[in-house]
Amino acid sequence: MCGIVGIVGAEFKIDELVSDLQKLEYRGYDSAGIAYIENGRISITKTLGRIQNLKEKIKPVTSLAGIAHTRWATHGVPNDINAHPHTDCTGKIALVHNGIIENYVELKEFLLERGHKFISDTDTEVIAHLIEENYEGDLYRAVLKTVKQLNGAYAIAVMHSDHPDILVAARKGSPLVLGKAEDKVILASDVTPIIKYTKDVVFLEEGDIAILKEREYKITDSNGNLVVRKVYHINWDEAAAEKSGYKHFMIKEIKEEPEAIENALVGRITQEGPVLNELKEFDLENIEKIKLVACGTSYHAALVFKYFVEKHSDIDIEVDVASEFRYRNVHVDDKTLVIAISQSGETADTLESVRIVKKKGAKVVAISNVVGSTITRESDVTVYMNAGPEIGVAATKTYVNQLVVLYILGMSLLKRRNIWNEELENDYKFLKESPKLFRKLLESLDIDELASYYKNYNHFMYIGRGINYPTALEGALKLKEISYINATAYPAGELKHGPIALLDPTFPVFAIAPQGYLYEKIKSNIEESKARKARIIAVTNEGNEGLSKIVDDVIYVPSAPDDMYPLIMSPIIQIFAYLISDMRGYDPDKPRNLAKSVTVE
Ligand code: F6R
Repeated sequence: MCGIVGIVGAEFKIDELVSDLQKLEYRGYDSAGIAYIENGRISITKTLGRIQNLKEKIKPVTSLAGIAHTRWATHGVPNDINAHPHTDCTGKIALVHNGIIENYVELKEFLLERGHKFISDTDTEVIAHLIEENYEGDLYRAVLKTVKQLNGAYAIAVMHSDHPDILVAARKGSPLVLGKAEDKVILASDVTPIIKYTKDVVFLEEGDIAILKEREYKITDSNGNLVVRKVYHINWDEAAAEKSGYKHFMIKEIKEEPEAIENALVGRITQEGPVLNELKEFDLENIEKIKLVACGTSYHAALVFKYFVEKHSDIDIEVDVASEFRYRNVHVDDKTLVIAISQSGETADTLESVRIVKKKGAKVVAISNVVGSTITRESDVTVYMNAGPEIGVAATKTYVNQLVVLYILGMSLLKRRNIWNEELENDYKFLKESPKLFRKLLESLDIDELASYYKNYNHFMYIGRGINYPTALEGALKLKEISYINATAYPAGELKHGPIALLDPTFPVFAIAPQGYLYEKIKSNIEESKARKARIIAVTNEGNEGLSKIVDDVIYVPSAPDDMYPLIMSPIIQIFAYLISDMRGYDPDKPRNLAKSVTVE
């Protein structure tokens, strides 16, 4: 979603600020803009479309302070006028905003009555005018007063031409991070633009307001009391956020999966078996219910956990998408473990679900990739997935690492409840071996020709059964989100209850069909689909040569224990979607209408 970068301090070239903004491109956006001080006045450049267009429009000037923004439209269509920064009537105030102001209609009416003139359709513009209304010579005070009048979510960065050497920022509901370099302070929606300047960062907390100057920043709470926030050290390096010769981040990140898994396993594979030190203090032995809450790809990872742990235990496990979960009357108590999964740690619905269950007395474990993100700070404990920065909008290596961490969590939970058997031992062995197996698979996989054959189909039906059903869901999501193909997923046994009516030679079926315990069942579903003349692509395990006699195309993965197929199948569905997107001429890293970090409801 919207991305914010602000810099204040020693004079800098404004194209540097625009380059920093490019680091947030992956979050998804439709327009971009920048404000800076030139000859004592605020100067603004905005544009619809890519940041590259903005780069071409800006002048080669320097400034002491600047704010830049990528907009993901919520109120008002994407165009130059609705792009941020927005200004007040005097043009002395400029502001960028991430979030949604829910009472903007009432505020706008009030401001119109007071004579303010609006030029955009955005909710954001009311904040600029409200600051103007509240301004009496002190920008911080004006922001402090203004944010009290706002309902909804915001991360804002504000500048004023009468104070060319400061920025004021505030957050509620949407993230903001600060970093202090030698001669400047940098502010951003996430750490990616900051790590070039410093790896020590501070995450603003709910209600915080910050004043940034050349060599210092001060943070207050919403009542104006000075507060000190923890400094987090980020160990991502800048190079990890570059393409390193790959055509797209997405394929680079898929190829990084073996190493990402190794990083997720460090310290968690021990002589005594699977261990999650983070959960040492948790009473996992006596948990009666587990509820997992997540969105999108993270939700699919949660489903795998359910199938896995439910099979080996008698714990009640429920999985829900966060946007539903937060509005249900969910029954939790101190014997319920809630697992909130969010690679970004900022997804608004997942975050709100965490707040709700915590109020009801549940213990919350967050699984996230971003150190210091909001969910990690609001949950009781965080298990980091250690995948490194993921820039491609579609989750790939973070999905794989979510699975790895969830398997470890499930295994250590079972072990602590004295549930351990040969099957789990084999699962565990496979997990340890998985980086090697991923390397081999990724080196040998060659499905370019297959993808090329299927690239022009407009529909796909993904099917799977049992623990392989989430892989079907994830495969369909990957394909639809980056290729804009109508891909849908069903538990294979459901086909005959409706969706099979869609199948014909124009509607291929992508079957997740390893020789696991439901293999014979899915084979029957494949036969049913074939009988409707649908083409079938199947992913199965090496050694299952027989399947090639039934289906049109087969992709092989190394043999695995039943429980572990979701892991080893992941790169297949990801690369298939990636290739098709690229072959159709799209940019898989920046799918239309999507954002990497979904910070609004
Ligand atoms: C799809 C994808 C999204 C995210 C979802 C949740 O490839 O990336 O479906 O999984 O928006 O995001 P997080 O995990 O950051 O909460």
